[in-house]
Amino acid sequence: MTDNISRRDWLKGGSAIAVAMMMGSRANAQDMAVPGWVPTPENPLRLSSNENPYGISKVARNAIIDALDTAHLYGRRASQNELAEQLAEMEGVNAENITFSGGSGEILKTLGLITAMEGGAVLTVDPTYHGLTRYAIARDVPIIHVPVDDSMTIDLDLLKAAYTDDISIIYLVNPNNPLPTIMEKTKLREFCIEMSQKCLVFIDEAYHEFVENDDYATMVPLTATHENIVVARTASKIHGFAGIRLGIGYGSKKWIAKINEYMTGSTNHLAVSGAKASFKDMATQNFVRRKNQESLAIVYKLFAKHNVKHVKSNTNFLFFEAGMPTSEMRDRFRKHGIAIGREFPPYTDWCRVSMGKPEDMEYFAEVYEKEFT
Ligand SMILES: Cc1ncc(COP(=O)(O)O)c(C=O)c1O
Repeated sequence: MTDNISRRDWLKGGSAIAVAMMMGSRANAQDMAVPGWVPTPENPLRLSSNENPYGISKVARNAIIDALDTAHLYGRRASQNELAEQLAEMEGVNAENITFSGGSGEILKTLGLITAMEGGAVLTVDPTYHGLTRYAIARDVPIIHVPVDDSMTIDLDLLKAAYTDDISIIYLVNPNNPLPTIMEKTKLREFCIEMSQKCLVFIDEAYHEFVENDDYATMVPLTATHENIVVARTASKIHGFAGIRLGIGYGSKKWIAKINEYMTGSTNHLAVSGAKASFKDMATQNFVRRKNQESLAIVYKLFAKHNVKHVKSNTNFLFFEAGMPTSEMRDRFRKHGIAIGREFPPYTDWCRVSMGKPEDMEYFAEVYEKEFT
């Protein structure tokens, strides 16, 4: 019976909701590619946290299962060293320039903590990801925000102009979040080199693997040659490790030692074992990138049809003008079983939507047209 519920029925509302509630074993499935699954407000399609809708790769899954044999042991440092060597070779740095954490959020918070303990202010942009600033604000660290420019890109000249001697960290997300724009690579490299003479420049590259833009470059190589530059990456996005938790910090020996000294967590052996396999698995990464582009194309088409203001994405999400308060659009999508992103001040009438599978984005487009046009 449940397999007979069509998505059109769901869009029409009514009894499909009640039937969907009874779906039992499929209640946790969260994508439209699962036959018969119907999203509900209680168990929505998750287009809110920029997760990977395909999950971890098969090779990572197998590596994690193998690692269970030694999961009861402390002291898996050798395994972390192997991953550090692997990433160092990939990125052109040394293993001593690398540290691991329980998700990159831990590195963001650790740098917020260091600022709180050692003094100084954070210079960043609005809007951007809140992980570091929220943690720092709760510890009374002053935060200086500069706005993005007219193309919704981080304005490095404005940041330079806003710098004062009180600033101890400049925190920049590249590509940014929720605005999926990038900073031009040559300008950013010069900025990092110049400003790192004055304070720590911290670049958060959580969405690095999704970028397909010649104007973009990672700043990781600079961390091996310049003392005050740190870059964070995460396995949560293209590798689908959001629940497994693995963050990567790149920095000089001085900063890696300092982050390690302040960090309170310890790295999960299963996450490290999975990551060793996942980072080598280019076929899966390419697949996720390709599907992400397919999903983006569906939403670009929708936005073009209805003249919805947005910026082109360098990530696995889009940020678009809602034409109403973010909370209102969120609630109305939620009624149809779609969770979209939270509010990102000062853009309180814009919304962020993460890319699910193409089937998910078709459903997003259907709901958008039904509810908002
Ligand atoms: C820009 C940015 N940095 C860091 C994170 C934290 O990710 P995680 O702690 O899962 O590595 C996120 C999560 O969405 C993010 O968007």
